[in-house]
Amino acid sequence: MQSCEITITGLSHDGQGVGRLADGQVVFVPDLLPGERALVRIEPTARRHRVLTGQCLQRLQDSPLRRRPPCILADHCGGCSLQHLSAAGQLSSKRDTVAQVLQRIAHLKVALDPVLASPSELGYRNRAVIPLERAEGGVLRAGFYRRSSHRIVNMNHCPVLDPRIDALVAPLKADLEATDWPVDRHLSQGGGLRHLALRVGHHSGEVLITLIASHGSDSFAGLSELAQGWMRRWPQVVGVLLNLQDKPTNALFGPTSELIAGRQWLSESFGSLRFQLACDTFFQVNTPQAERVAELVLQQLPRPGCQVVDAYCGVGTFTLPMAAAGHHVHGLEVHPASVQLARLNAQLNGLEQRARFEQGPVAEHLTALLPATDAVLVDPPRKGLEGPVRQALIEQPVQRLLYLSCDPATLARDLEALVSGPYQLDSLQPLDFFPNTSHIECLAVLSS
Ligand SMILES: C[S@@+](CC[C@H](N)C(=O)[O-])C[C@H]1O[C@@H](n2cnc3c(N)ncnc32)[C@H](O)[C@@H]1O
Repeated sequence: MQSCEITITGLSHDGQGVGRLADGQVVFVPDLLPGERALVRIEPTARRHRVLTGQCLQRLQDSPLRRRPPCILADHCGGCSLQHLSAAGQLSSKRDTVAQVLQRIAHLKVALDPVLASPSELGYRNRAVIPLERAEGGVLRAGFYRRSSHRIVNMNHCPVLDPRIDALVAPLKADLEATDWPVDRHLSQGGGLRHLALRVGHHSGEVLITLIASHGSDSFAGLSELAQGWMRRWPQVVGVLLNLQDKPTNALFGPTSELIAGRQWLSESFGSLRFQLACDTFFQVNTPQAERVAELVLQQLPRPGCQVVDAYCGVGTFTLPMAAAGHHVHGLEVHPASVQLARLNAQLNGLEQRARFEQGPVAEHLTALLPATDAVLVDPPRKGLEGPVRQALIEQPVQRLLYLSCDPATLARDLEALVSGPYQLDSLQPLDFFPNTSHIECLAVLSS
């Protein structure tokens, strides 16, 4: 297929360079940065919706913001897409992306605050779920996927992981390799081990090791001894679990976990609060950045002693800081195990009178709560607000609406509806929770 010279003019939402062919067709090229000129081979198979993808054959002019990636696997691993862009370049590019998306989707011209940088550029991830496979000769491979594929890029070290879990990857791989346990991520050969999940408490240093498998512990002879050995070898490991996921779905974890050694949960502090976290419940992966967001949220509540709804509340990450500050908060969450932990975490902190939790979809509980609510915090998954939730917030406006988003495109869609209704957008703070990746969080503050 043809190769041609292209000048990159922007970055796509997933960190690829974007340029145009002479006839105006848009081309997405991984690993290139705005301002760079390169010889690019246009991929023959990727012509979709008049958008092409290309491979860089040779860079003809580098961006001054290009740097040597801190990870030796950066050119292959799809886990990070911006390692080759300087830290300052990542922040300004994320800000530009948010501004462009808001303008394109919501027709909103917003004076954006600069992106709030993560306190650490590397070593910030408190959790990893690492795909496993056995290669020829029984060699165990573990690593994240190559970009746009399900092929593992084998790794022993990942610099964005908290060093305390990163240090466990290689020895755990070696121990798993030495077993005769089947490893079958795709469940195509009768099942077996699928993923290795590691979680560390950023402040406590406590670690949970979880093997995700399609079968229970009976199928893994010697697991209990191995797990106890891990706990002796690494005193920071407080529990080893086997999570049962026998369904070929996208959900990494199944609904039940077997305790193999130690305990089911790790303890962690968050601000001045104590939390218990399980292996499979959602918790913000960049703890210090999430603590800053909790402070920003508190600053935006309109008065002391507010009635607040924390929609999509997880284990109470933001519910409990609001309750501890004297507000009365209703947390809404669909995942039963998260609600159980949220209630327990409220009790641990003596906050059960001011932090209550309802289990179920937000859409089911929100309408009844809104008339007596001063402020709502929404922190939905990437798909953003469901239609009925958006509608309820428009029909029964609250004084202050805080929207924490992990996808600028769905945020823009929802903001357009909210500001066409009774709300005005007071501020929008982009936040970097995931340096070296193209992910962007935003905290939007609206009032009615
Ligand atoms: C982005 S996480 C935020 C969790 C929490 N705010 C935190 O920061 O730890 C989104 C949460 O929404 C929950 N969730 C997803 N869809 C939901 C729905 N329709 N109703 C209620 N909760 C939902 C997920 O289980 C997850 O805990």
